[in-house]
Amino acid sequence: MAISVMLSKLSSSYGAFLAASSSSLGSRISFSSSYKVESHPNSSLLLSHFSSWSKTCKAYFSKKALETPKIVDLDWDSLGFGLVETDFMYFMRSSSDGTFSKGELLPFGPIQLNPSSAVLNYGQGLFEGLKAYRKEDGSILLFRPEENALRMISGAERICMPAPTVEQFLDAVKQTVLANKRWIPPAGKGSLYIRPLLVGSGPVLSLVPASEYIFLIYVAPVGNYFKEGLAPINLIVEEGYHRATPGGTGGIKTIGNYASVLKAQKIAKEKGYSDVLYLDSVHKKYLEEASSCNVFVVKGNVISTPAAKGTILPGITRKSIIDVATSKGYQVEERLVSVEELLEADEVFCTGTAVVVSPVGSITYLGKRVEYGNKGVGVVSQELYSSLTSLQMGLVPDTMGWTMQLQ
Ligand code: COI
Repeated sequence: MAISVMLSKLSSSYGAFLAASSSSLGSRISFSSSYKVESHPNSSLLLSHFSSWSKTCKAYFSKKALETPKIVDLDWDSLGFGLVETDFMYFMRSSSDGTFSKGELLPFGPIQLNPSSAVLNYGQGLFEGLKAYRKEDGSILLFRPEENALRMISGAERICMPAPTVEQFLDAVKQTVLANKRWIPPAGKGSLYIRPLLVGSGPVLSLVPASEYIFLIYVAPVGNYFKEGLAPINLIVEEGYHRATPGGTGGIKTIGNYASVLKAQKIAKEKGYSDVLYLDSVHKKYLEEASSCNVFVVKGNVISTPAAKGTILPGITRKSIIDVATSKGYQVEERLVSVEELLEADEVFCTGTAVVVSPVGSITYLGKRVEYGNKGVGVVSQELYSSLTSLQMGLVPDTMGWTMQLQ
């Protein structure tokens, strides 16, 4: 490899590294990525000095940043669901035989991808979402992280990718959360959203699985997902676009599922709705899910939700709410739920890691608007929201065994 190419690789990665270090540590180091040594008589000597200097810097700043807990200058009360860049990301590669090597924490920043990588060309990629909460006593709680690891393994199998083991996944999540501990909002002010990614990074041109993969985790402090906050959201039932088809990938967390809903969501938002509710693509009359979350319909003591059979994402919050509601004496049914039932429901709510439990204030279908909960939060939605979040935040004893304490 030509020295200039090697140097530019080193310089771009360490340029990003130093930029990240300088922003997180307040140091004033700058680095020029345009320096060329190929014509210098001592080019190999220069390169080796540069390389060892870079390694020393990297080790120094990584250690320093981990040791230096600086106060985060954020208004915790106005957190929404947007990217706030934090200090570190976790990075792990698979070799061409599909096994993942030891991962490492790197300063948060851009990554290099081959233009012909499988994820950029054919969407071979998955993501996950989970949260860490800070308790009043300063300890940190993760909510059911092994469920995310297992879902990633099953999604990876569907789109022909190797996946980290449950142990590798959990270790990576813990390391990333602890390294970014200062970004976890104070108790009651929000959570640290954890975003694991698994993508085909190896180059392809014909349609085949990549030979190499990247597993990456980044995190961001978040508050409420919808701009409505905890107030009920307004959904419109989509008649033309569908989110998933039988035999497709609706049941896994592949990145393409989320790109495909953007158009309907954009149109709905332009009309003032919070989000879109999808119908099944075969009969066009059974509920599927909203763009970013699962849906539940309440009628009397019965709570129904579409069965997670292929086209529905098996949400971890969905699964948890089913168990919490059952333990409270509700009859929970996982089955086909028709759009007519939705219109006759007492209450409707959505669930997801990002949205938690979000009450629905109105649904519009074929031009007809149905309202729930007298513009307030329904009793059942409120009860389930309180029970789940109390568990997640460690406000009540974890009788379900769902939380994992980090410190
Ligand atoms: C989540 O709830 O964690 C998701 O992955 C949905 C995403 C659109 C924010």
